[in-house]
Amino acid sequence: MNTPLGTAELRSRFEATFGAAPDGLWQAPGRVNLIGEHTDYNEGFVLPFAIDRAARVAVRLRTDSTVRMLSTFGNQGLTTADAAALDPATAKGWTKYPLGVMWALQQRGVAVPGLDLLLDSDVPRGAGLSSSHAIECAVALALNNLTAASLGTADLVLATQRAENEFVGAPTGIMDQSASLRGAEGRAVFLDCRDQSARLVPFDAGAAGLVLLVIDTGVTHSHAGGGYAARRTSCELGADVLGVRALRDVALSDLPEAAGLLDAETFRRVRHVVTENARVLQAVERLEHAGPRAIGALLDASHASMRDDFEISCPELDLAVDTARAAGAIGARMTGGGFGGSAIALVPAEDEQRVRADVGRAFAHAGFGAPTVFPVRPAAGARRLA
Ligand code: GLA
Repeated sequence: MNTPLGTAELRSRFEATFGAAPDGLWQAPGRVNLIGEHTDYNEGFVLPFAIDRAARVAVRLRTDSTVRMLSTFGNQGLTTADAAALDPATAKGWTKYPLGVMWALQQRGVAVPGLDLLLDSDVPRGAGLSSSHAIECAVALALNNLTAASLGTADLVLATQRAENEFVGAPTGIMDQSASLRGAEGRAVFLDCRDQSARLVPFDAGAAGLVLLVIDTGVTHSHAGGGYAARRTSCELGADVLGVRALRDVALSDLPEAAGLLDAETFRRVRHVVTENARVLQAVERLEHAGPRAIGALLDASHASMRDDFEISCPELDLAVDTARAAGAIGARMTGGGFGGSAIALVPAEDEQRVRADVGRAFAHAGFGAPTVFPVRPAAGARRLA
């Protein structure tokens, strides 16, 4: 994980690389999802928050269509492209995220010229914390400010989703970019993914004597194709057979009847989504009326549902969750799309060291690579820095 550059250093590195000052600097955070997994593309509810780790971009628009991009990490070097002929087939590594956003804005009719871009990020990559959406949201804000796009948040959300779906090739929903764009300090974002209506819900673990730990298993994953797409297809099949627009429209009380209409696997997928939506609503209610300590059991139930019904966990995530719980966590679950990435554990402050030590030991004992464990807190959403 690299230490983030300060704004002055990002600016001077940009100048040293591209020979002129940037037009501005923008920042967009990664996210942790507190609860509400694989509900977004079912037009359901999610409760993520923006974390205190972010992507930062320095951008300067050009008068020609040349695109030059460099990051402060990795070894990809300076990458070039043509803004007048953006092509997903030739886009490599992290550059497909800025290029995808440029492409999606062009599809909306926004004239996006060439640009120079320097990226810095301290969102761990491949950890399920939406490092890709952090980049996309930072670039989307930059282009929204520098061109005549003038899009509101809901449209920026849709533009970055289109970049992911059609340019990057990952059939993802709208949760990650919504958290990044709408997040606020000390708050989680309660989002209705059907109409994008959002409400900020207090989540101050520290004030409740808790810490929210991320346990990055080191198992990397990709949502372009594979298991994520298969889950999405199952959900669409379930909605189709049940005769609803989306699984959002299936109530808990409909489940017994659904069991008779669906094959066993599709039913399990549907049951996860339906019960997960209910858990999000309960979590919001509990956070607003009782505080963070009241959501532990919901986190546990969410994990069990993803492990057993949606089948998107993996041995490393299960071990992280079980060990954290045994060491004192009041609730734990995998977060994000699954098949790897990170778990989160809500831990009494006095148990933090034990959770860290026990998880490390359990991974070593199981022969897994060492996990990375760090606390996160809800931080401000995407914004212009300079
Ligand atoms: C990924 C996707 C999101 C969402 C989650 C699962 O993070 O990008 O849209 O579907 O998985 O909740």
